Amino acid sequence: MLIKTHANGFDHPVPSEITPQGIYRSRRELIKLMAAGTAGAALASWAGREALAQTPQKPGKLAALPGGKSAVAGALTMEKITDYKDASSYNNFYEFGTDKADPARNAHTLVTKPWSVAVEGLVKNPKTFTLEELLKLSPQEERIYRLRCVEGWSMVIPWVGYSLSELIKKVEPLGNAKYVEFITQADPKTMPFVGSRVLDWPYVEALRLDEAMHPLALLTFGMYGEVLPNQNGAPVRMVLPWKYGFKSGKSIVKIRFTDKQPRTAWNKSAAQEYGFYSNVNPSVDHPRWSQATERRIGEDGLFAKKRKTLMFNGYEAQVGQLYAGMDLKKDF
Ligand code: MTE
Repeated sequence: MLIKTHANGFDHPVPSEITPQGIYRSRRELIKLMAAGTAGAALASWAGREALAQTPQKPGKLAALPGGKSAVAGALTMEKITDYKDASSYNNFYEFGTDKADPARNAHTLVTKPWSVAVEGLVKNPKTFTLEELLKLSPQEERIYRLRCVEGWSMVIPWVGYSLSELIKKVEPLGNAKYVEFITQADPKTMPFVGSRVLDWPYVEALRLDEAMHPLALLTFGMYGEVLPNQNGAPVRMVLPWKYGFKSGKSIVKIRFTDKQPRTAWNKSAAQEYGFYSNVNPSVDHPRWSQATERRIGEDGLFAKKRKTLMFNGYEAQVGQLYAGMDLKKDF
């Protein structure tokens, strides 16, 4: 068996890695809101607000999306949080171009209002949810997760959302549902690279149903206490911290339950390089590069050392059992 489980499942930070006071602007405000018991009310009023249109793309200028502190084990790392500027300007979102600067440059054309997500396939209660309905489905939580990209860089981001399992429970998957597919919007009018041959659009990602039910799988509406900027997958995306970043589909319009393993965008494009599972695994290299280390965005400088990549991106204690008995070299 390939799975080892750490005794306690948590990483121990060195003092220099702890987020200094004041770096993460909204944390204090969130705590205040929570203490006053107004976080829920603030969210409800936010849901109907015009600010949802999120035209200004400057850090700290988007609509607030307060979330209570998460009770989910593994949702908090004591590592330094990536600067908002880096997290919102160094992205992959191929619908807007293949350069890391393209999404921030081009995603202003994405229209996020009105927005709805069709939940369909092998479920008892299929339903098309408006964004406002989705926002109110369960309390928003703030979760600080590492995101490790398959290309070898990583970030630490305070996301806001709730476990996807809350939505799954509402629609009640049928007994033969085994997989969940996440389909991104593909509108050539507002997404300039849809239509290019770089991928087979729409961007599709998928999970096994038990992975999708895991509490760490976050249906995400915000980051840094605000709604998602367009380039980060507004208005709703997945965040799966134990998997390579490309598994976390952005700007989702459809969630479909199936009995067969879906073909995903990157798997279709290069199956030998991007497997269905794509769990972060430092001992299984990408065919063209090692996955043993990573560069933390914001730490690049002449003397910045690379970090060792952790099994399941450091979430082994939480998710390891999902893969017990599997050969992760074969099911990469
Ligand atoms: N989702 C869509 N629809 N299109 C994409 O190109 N890129 C993926 C993922 N989700 C991508 C996507 C990749 S490769 C990464 S690393 C993450 O988004 C980047 O997410 P970030 O904006 O949080 O950095």
